[in-house]
Amino acid sequence: MRRMNKPLSAADSAAQTPIAAEVERRRTFAIISHPDAGKTTLTEKLLLFGGAINLAGQVKAKRDRRSTRSDWMAIERERGISVVTSVMTFDYDGRVFNLLDTPGHEDFSEDTYRTLTAVDSAVMVIDAAKGIEARTRKLFEVCRLRDIPIVTFINKMDREARDPFDILDEIEKTLALDTTPMTWPIGQGRDFAGTYDIASGEMRLLTDDGRTVDRQPLDLASLAAKNPMLDAEAIAEELKLVKEACRPFDFQAFREGHLTPVFFGSALKNFGVKDLLDALGKLAPPPRAQVANTRKIDAHENAMTAFVFKIQANMDPNHRDRIAFARLCSGKLRRGMKAKLTRTGKPVTLSAPQFFFAQDRSVADEAYAGDVVGIPNHGTLRIGDTFTEGEELAFLGVPNFAPEILRRVKLGDPMKAKKLKEALQQMAEEGVVQVFRPLDGAPALVGVVGPLQLDVLKVRLAEEYGLDIGFDQPEFQLARWIACDDRKKLDEFVSANYSSVAEDLDGDKVFMARNQFILDYTRERAPGLVFNDIKDVK
Ligand code: G4P
Repeated sequence: MRRMNKPLSAADSAAQTPIAAEVERRRTFAIISHPDAGKTTLTEKLLLFGGAINLAGQVKAKRDRRSTRSDWMAIERERGISVVTSVMTFDYDGRVFNLLDTPGHEDFSEDTYRTLTAVDSAVMVIDAAKGIEARTRKLFEVCRLRDIPIVTFINKMDREARDPFDILDEIEKTLALDTTPMTWPIGQGRDFAGTYDIASGEMRLLTDDGRTVDRQPLDLASLAAKNPMLDAEAIAEELKLVKEACRPFDFQAFREGHLTPVFFGSALKNFGVKDLLDALGKLAPPPRAQVANTRKIDAHENAMTAFVFKIQANMDPNHRDRIAFARLCSGKLRRGMKAKLTRTGKPVTLSAPQFFFAQDRSVADEAYAGDVVGIPNHGTLRIGDTFTEGEELAFLGVPNFAPEILRRVKLGDPMKAKKLKEALQQMAEEGVVQVFRPLDGAPALVGVVGPLQLDVLKVRLAEEYGLDIGFDQPEFQLARWIACDDRKKLDEFVSANYSSVAEDLDGDKVFMARNQFILDYTRERAPGLVFNDIKDVK
């Protein structure tokens, strides 16, 4: 599949340079939601609009097929969850949309957090009957840390739904996020007839076959004549109230992440999806500047820069390949170019970068800021890696989070200790688990957010390395990164607490505590030291 070169809109063609024009037409986003709110269904409908798939049902079909092809993903199949994070690119209305998919299950939330560092905006999908659910709130908080603008889609309006005012109120109160409805539902559940477009005053009607039809002048009387359950007068009253009472849309507040435009629809019935996509095109930001350790890199700069936010192993079981997903931050990536991997200082030839589509991948001849390319490699790349055309810099903001669960890896065959060490190193570089190596030489600890990560680790070590492992409950429950401006003080702390300190993948020191009490006690007695539960990868 090839990218189409569609005409640019007026705003786009105002851009000065070819790079700027390409940057301006890109929209890189993710969908955040609680499981079951309709993320998969909406993804599919967005891809249909983008012409990236032809038939509904293919996103799920692909997911199933892929999991049967690869054994370790049997875990996914058995438990009916999506372990994989991937990217889907499609063109719509002269723009290039990069939709970064995230795993639905919370045990893989680290993956999701990392993916959210690679997007410029997000769509928040809310089930109209349920409102804000736990995982939506958590993911929203992660977006807020980076002030990512959010477009809201209230889904499942074709089912019994809560009062729309109620839902808006809940968003405002629980997320401290202002709302502006852009559309308003006319009826709900079985009587859901369509939406009212608040800016134009027109309506868009739902069709039986899921086609998207043009907006038309509001005519409540004829709607009510067709469906006696709709009370034209009450609806007219409500729409009047909406116009008067709801906050007007404030573009800047949206772009700063303080206000969300809200759309109502039904992903299942393919309704409201076009309005959402149009809004993403018009309102959501093009690739933003990215912060590195030395400076901020603007998307319009000429030199290519990119960072790796995700590593996916076993995409194709016939080739034991690993794909590093890199988000471009500036410049132009050309196939075959040499880039500098700043962690090692070594050059890397990008000989076969790839684009991903719903059903395909293809070689990427060129890519621009906002694009995500897959870089096949055999273990040279790790999460957080930065590519440049020579400049010495490292992007910040692909974080590590303190694990919720710590386990000691128990090896069936002690002769394989060296192999285990290598394997754990690989798994940590891929972000499957975090690995902490105690300074006193005790066996490594692995840290995870949820138990499913441990299952994945066990299966992958067995299948890819022939290692039979188990897990023991270690004496430690908590891990915190320790830092101190005064190097000497840090060293003193480490030697005084030698048997409770480990090193992570990067050699950073981690204090391991038996429980919260010990952590608090230690913290109190170590003034000047900080015990962090988040670490930005350098
Ligand atoms: P997720 O990825 O967020 O977990 O949600 P997904 O799209 O898988 O949707 C969860 C369930 O909700 C699915 O039903 C799906 O068909 C349904 N759904 C999604 N959007 C809408 C909508 O707008 N209206 C209605 N009425 N239902 C919607 P399921 O029975 O669990 O799965 P399936 O057998 O339909 O695939």
